Amino acid sequence: MVREWDPRTAPSVEIEAVLNSLNAALAADLPDDPLWRIDAFREYLAVTMPGERRVCWLAETARGAGQHGEGVLGTANMLLLGDIGVLEVIVDPAARRRGVGHELLGAVVQRAYAEGFTSLGVEVIGDTPSVKFYEHYGFECAFVEIRNVLQLSTVDWPSLEKLALGIAPGYRIEYYPGGPPEELYEAYAEAKAIVRESYDSTDLELRPSSYEPERLRASLATLHARGLRPYIVMGIHESSGKIAGLTEVVVAAQHPSRADQYDTVVVPAHRGYGLGRALKARMLFELRSAEPRLTEVQTWNAFENEPMLKVNAELGFQPDRQWSEYEADVADLIRRFDKDI
Ligand SMILES: CC(C)(COP(=O)(O)OP(=O)(O)OC[C@H]1O[C@@H](n2cnc3c(N)ncnc32)[C@H](O)[C@@H]1OP(=O)(O)O)[C@@H](O)C(=O)NCCC(=O)NCCS
Repeated sequence: MVREWDPRTAPSVEIEAVLNSLNAALAADLPDDPLWRIDAFREYLAVTMPGERRVCWLAETARGAGQHGEGVLGTANMLLLGDIGVLEVIVDPAARRRGVGHELLGAVVQRAYAEGFTSLGVEVIGDTPSVKFYEHYGFECAFVEIRNVLQLSTVDWPSLEKLALGIAPGYRIEYYPGGPPEELYEAYAEAKAIVRESYDSTDLELRPSSYEPERLRASLATLHARGLRPYIVMGIHESSGKIAGLTEVVVAAQHPSRADQYDTVVVPAHRGYGLGRALKARMLFELRSAEPRLTEVQTWNAFENEPMLKVNAELGFQPDRQWSEYEADVADLIRRFDKDI
């Protein structure tokens, strides 16, 4: 049975049961990924950006079973972002193909409909049962990325140092653990906005970025509150003082051995000077000393982003698997679920 669930007030034993079912799914579907730890897991689920909401559901063998640390069959959540709901459904491998995913998705769809949302988006991981599951409900692939993973044990650090130093004269590189300083928020947000305008993006934006100083401030506060430590490396164009490029990495308290590389952007006017490569290389050096538990870094790239794929390959990132954004209209989904009831 499925019930709405609030991670902010759930007993700790239930939070642990949810973590255990997530880890069982990870072990089955992404066996090379690190298992998640309980550290800040409640906060990870509970905290959102101001103005956004996350609604969660729990599937259990019997009502309230999760409160005794057992009987959790799966979870779903939907982040309400503007007019799109971004959802996740995860079912314990031991409980799959018994309609649990169907019931959880049904709860999400009913809620999205009741809230007046017009479309739902979801990240679908290649080579997992999610692909067939979402396609079964009529979700369509809107955007495909490839995940790349770098094992730090394979890094040739002396060569990497050359890459880190290999920028044209007139630029300098700066490192900011925790996020950019306040006085750079505006310039930082501007650099991201310029790059965004230069994209002909079909991205559904399930992972929206921060293009205004206020949003950037809120986004950093949200990251910290969810147990996600941000690290920033920036390239500064010395004569203008402008930010020419930046790269962002987040180390999650929930899986501190594998960092997530978020945006790496070089402002178009400053491309071709070795900045992309140097920023990412410098970041790896900084992470190595700041995060002793770190063994891997993962990043996601669009297939057509050839320059970034080339930089990643030079640094030693290995393509891992497809990571796609799927979408469906709530109206179509609700018709399908109504038919099934
Ligand atoms: C995708 C997932 C949510 C499906 O949950 P489930 O409870 O097994 O799904 P259901 O039993 O409700 O299946 C509903 C329909 O989806 C389709 N489906 C689900 N799993 C499928 C599979 N492995 N192969 C083919 N079709 C599948 C079927 O059409 C199914 O209906 P049917 O059983 O009557 O044929 C579950 O496999 C899961 O949690 N996967 C997580 C994958 C993931 O992202 N892992 C990485 C992060 S932890």
